[in-house]
Amino acid sequence: MIRHAFLFVALAATASAQNTCVECHDAQQAPVENSAHPMLSCTDCHNGDSSAAEMEASHAEAKKFIGNPKPLQLAQMCGDCHQKATDAWKRSPHLDGMQKGDPAGASCASCHTRAAAPSSHSIVDCGDENAPTSRLRVAETCARCHSDPKAMARSGLRADALALYEKSKHGHNVLEEKEEDGASCVDCHLPHEALRSSDPASETHVTRQSATCGRCHGEEKRMKAHGLSHGLVAKFDGSPHARTLKDGSPSCAACHGPHLARVPGFDEMGTLCGRCHEGPARELASGPHGKATWTDPQSGVAAPLNCEHCHGAHGARRPEAPFAAKTCGKCHEAGTKALEAGNLISDISAKTREDVRELHQLLDKVQKRGHDFGEGCEALAALDGSIHELGALAHGVSAENCRRVRESFQREAKALKSQLVELTPEKRPLGWLPVMWAFLFAGVALMWAKSRKKSVEI
Ligand code: HEC
Ligand code: HEC
Ligand code: HEC
Ligand code: HEC
Ligand code: HEC
Ligand code: HEC
Ligand code: HEC
Ligand code: HEC
Ligand code: HEC
Ligand code: HEC
Ligand code: HEC
Repeated sequence: MIRHAFLFVALAATASAQNTCVECHDAQQAPVENSAHPMLSCTDCHNGDSSAAEMEASHAEAKKFIGNPKPLQLAQMCGDCHQKATDAWKRSPHLDGMQKGDPAGASCASCHTRAAAPSSHSIVDCGDENAPTSRLRVAETCARCHSDPKAMARSGLRADALALYEKSKHGHNVLEEKEEDGASCVDCHLPHEALRSSDPASETHVTRQSATCGRCHGEEKRMKAHGLSHGLVAKFDGSPHARTLKDGSPSCAACHGPHLARVPGFDEMGTLCGRCHEGPARELASGPHGKATWTDPQSGVAAPLNCEHCHGAHGARRPEAPFAAKTCGKCHEAGTKALEAGNLISDISAKTREDVRELHQLLDKVQKRGHDFGEGCEALAALDGSIHELGALAHGVSAENCRRVRESFQREAKALKSQLVELTPEKRPLGWLPVMWAFLFAGVALMWAKSRKKSVEI
C-alpha cells in the first residue's frame, strides 16, 4: 500500500507532463481519469513516446509500444504494478481460454469493469461499494459468461452456477441478507486463479473441499449464528470417505452440490448413499427397517429409518463388531428379538472377518516359500467378497440370511485352508537349531568368563 502511495504521487507528476497520445486519442482520456487509474499516463500501460507528434514515432517499437495487447502482453502491461494478481491469472483457465483464440476466457477488464463500459480504461476501484468485484456484485460479474449457455458450451461447462447459487442459503445470505457470513463465488474459487476443479491445486478439488468449506463450516461462532453444527467437518475428515477420496469417495460437493449447497432430506438417503453402496441400500429397503420410522427421543424429529441413524452422514463409519449393543441398542431394548438378531449378525461378521484374516496369513506364508498358488489367491478373493456380502445382508437384519451365507463361506474356507496347510508343512525338522545355538552360546560365554578371571588374577 505504501509502495502504491509513492507510486501514486510519482505517477501523478508524470501524468501532468505533455501527452501527445490524447491529441489523437482524446476519447480515451476521460474514462482513464474516472477509473481506478487517474494517476496513470497512457504510456504507463502502452509504453511508446508521449512527446512525439507523429503516430509512427509515438508507436515506435524501439519504445516498446504495446497497442491492443495479446493476452501475454496484457500480463506484462498490468504485471509490472500488480504482480501477484497477474501471476495468478497467468495460471488460470481464463488465460487458457483467451489464448485459444476465440473469445473464450476472461481478461482483467472482464471482471474489473462495469458491464456498460468493458474497457481496460474503465477499471473500477475494488473498494467502490458497487464495484463488479464486490461481494454483492461478483456473482453477477462471473455470470456475464458463466450464465451464457453458448459461451459455456464451447468450453464444456455448465451454465447454471448462478441460477443454483441464487437458490442456495449461501446466495440468500450474501445477496438478500447482505451479510458477510455466507459464501460468494470467490470464497470458494480464487478470483485470479479460478483453477479447474480437476486440478489438484484447486480450492475446489475433491481433496481440498473439506478445507475450503471448512474455513467457515468448521468455525463454531459463524455456524452457531445460523443454527448449524461446526463439528461435521472434523467428523468428515476422520471418515473412511476422507481417506479414500482418490477411489471415488464423496466429499462435500458430491453430497450437497457445490452451488445449490442443499441439505439432503432423510428420505433421500437411500438414493444419495445407495448411488455407491447399492447392496446396503437394497437390503435396508427390503428389510423391516425399510418401512420403519424412528422418532429421535432427543429432538423429537420423526424420520424414515436411514443410513444416517447407524453411520452418521459425515462420520460414515462401519460399526465394528460386537456392534449389537451399541448400534442396535440405540433403539431396541436388551432381550428383544431384534437385539438377539443383532448379536447373531455381529457374531457372524466378526468370525468371518477373523477367518479371512487367518487365511490371508496362511497364504502369505505359502507365497513367502516361493509357491505362486494362483488358484488360492482367486479363492481367497472370492471369500473376501463374502465379507461384503454379509456387510450388505446385515442391513436386512435377518440373522437367518446371514447364517446361510456364513455356512457356504465355511465350506469353502475349510477347503482352502486344508490346501494351504498342506503347502506349509510344520518346521519340526529344524526344531534342534535353537538348541544347538543355545549350547554354542553357553560354551562361548563360559570360555569368556574363564579368560576374564585369568586376566583379573594376573
Ligand atoms: C498522430 C496521431 C497519433 C498519436 C500521437 C498517437 N496515436 Fe495511437 N493511433 C493513431 C491511429 C491513427 C491509430 C489507428 C491506426 C492503427 O491501428 O495503426 C492508432 C492506434 C492506436 C492503438 C491501437 C493499436 C491496435 O493495435 O489496434 C493504441 C493502443 C494507440 N494508438 C495508443 C497510442 C498511445 C499510447 C500513444 C501515445 C504514446 C499514441 N497512440 C499516439 C494515431 C496516433
Ligand atoms: C491501465 C492500463 C491502460 C492505460 C492507463 C491506458 N490504456 Fe489504452 N488500452 C489498454 C488495454 C489493456 C487496451 C486493450 C483493450 C481493452 O482491454 O480494453 C487498450 C486499448 C487502447 C486503444 C485501442 C482502442 C480501444 O479503446 O480499445 C487505444 C487507442 C488506447 N488504448 C489508447 C490509450 C490512451 C490514449 C491512453 C491514455 C489516455 C490509454 N490508452 C491508457 C490499457 C491501458
Ligand atoms: C504503472 C503501474 C500500474 C499499471 C501498469 C497498472 N496499474 Fe492498476 N493500479 C495502480 C495503482 C497505483 C492503483 C491504485 C492503488 C491501489 O489501489 O492499489 C491501481 C489500482 C488498480 C485496481 C484496483 C485495485 C483495488 O484494490 O481497488 C485494479 C483492479 C487494477 N489497478 C487493475 C489493473 C489492470 C487490469 C492493469 C492492466 C491493464 C493495471 N491495473 C495496470 C498501478 C498500476
Ligand atoms: C474472474 C474475474 C477476475 C479476473 C479475470 C481478474 N480479477 Fe482482479 N479481482 C477480482 C476480484 C473478485 C477481486 C476482489 C477480491 C477480493 O475482494 O477478495 C479482485 C481483486 C484485484 C485487485 C486488488 C486486490 C488484490 O488481489 O491485489 C487487483 C490489483 C486486481 N484484482 C488486478 C487484476 C489484474 C491485473 C488482472 C488481470 C491480470 C485481474 N485482476 C483479473 C476478479 C478478477
Ligand atoms: C468474460 C467471461 C468470464 C467471466 C467474467 C468469468 N469467467 Fe470463468 N471462465 C470463462 C470461460 C470461457 C472459462 C473456460 C475457459 C477454458 O475453456 O479454458 C472459464 C473457466 C472458469 C473456471 C474453470 C472451470 C473448469 O472446471 O474448467 C472457473 C472455476 C471459473 N471460470 C470461475 C469464474 C469465477 C469465480 C468468475 C467470477 C469471479 C468468473 N469465472 C468470471 C469465462 C468467464
Ligand atoms: C460454496 C462454494 C462455492 C461457491 C459459493 C461457488 N462455487 Fe463454483 N464450484 C465449487 C466447487 C466445490 C466446484 C467443483 C464441483 C465438483 O467438481 O464437483 C465448483 C465448480 C464450478 C465450476 C466448474 C464446473 C462446471 O462444469 O461448470 C464453475 C464454472 C464454477 N464453479 C463457477 C462458479 C460461479 C460463477 C459461482 C458464483 C455464482 C460459484 N461457482 C460459486 C464451489 C463453489
Ligand atoms: C465463506 C463462508 C462459507 C463457505 C466457504 C462455505 N459455506 Fe456453507 N454456509 C455458510 C453459512 C454462513 C451458511 C448459513 C447460511 C444461512 O443459513 O443464512 C451456510 C450454509 C450451508 C449449508 C446449509 C444449507 C441449509 O439448507 O441449511 C450447506 C449444506 C453448506 N453451507 C454447504 C457448504 C459446502 C458444501 C461448502 C463448500 C463447497 C460451503 N458450504 C462453503 C458459510 C460458508
Ligand atoms: C456422504 C455424503 C455427505 C458428505 C460427504 C458431506 N455431507 Fe454434509 N450432510 C449430508 C447429509 C445427509 C446431511 C443431513 C443430515 C445431517 O444433518 O447429518 C448433511 C448435513 C450438512 C449440513 C447441515 C448441518 C446442520 O447442522 O443442520 C452442513 C452445513 C453440511 N452437511 C456441510 C458439509 C460439509 C462442509 C462437508 C464437507 C466437509 C459435508 N457436508 C460432507 C451428507 C454429506
Ligand atoms: C460417490 C460414492 C459414494 C457415496 C455417495 C457414498 N459413499 Fe460411502 N464409501 C464410498 C467409497 C468409495 C468408500 C470406501 C471404499 C470402501 O472402504 O469400501 C466408502 C466407504 C463407506 C463406509 C465404510 C465401509 C467400510 O467397509 O468400512 C461407510 C459406512 C459408508 N461409506 C457409508 C456411506 C453413507 C452413509 C453414505 C451417504 C450419507 C455414503 N457412504 C455415500 C463411496 C460413496
Ligand atoms: C440399522 C443400522 C444400519 C443402517 C440403518 C444402515 N447401516 Fe450400514 N451397516 C450397519 C452395520 C451394523 C454394518 C456392519 C455389518 C458387518 O460388519 O457385517 C454396516 C455396514 C455398512 C457398510 C460396509 C459394508 C461392507 O462392505 O462391509 C456400508 C458401505 C454401509 N453399511 C452403508 C450403509 C448405507 C448406504 C446405508 C443406508 C442405505 C446404511 N448402511 C444403513 C448398520 C446400518
Ligand atoms: C434408529 C433406530 C433403530 C436402530 C439403530 C435399529 N433399529 Fe431395528 N427397528 C427400528 C424400528 C423403528 C423398527 C420397526 C418398529 C418395530 O417393529 O419395532 C425396527 C425393526 C427391527 C426388526 C424387525 C421387528 C422386530 O422388532 O423384530 C428387527 C429384527 C430389527 N429392527 C433389528 C435391528 C438390528 C439387528 C439392529 C442393529 C444392526 C437395529 N434393528 C437397529 C429401529 C431401529
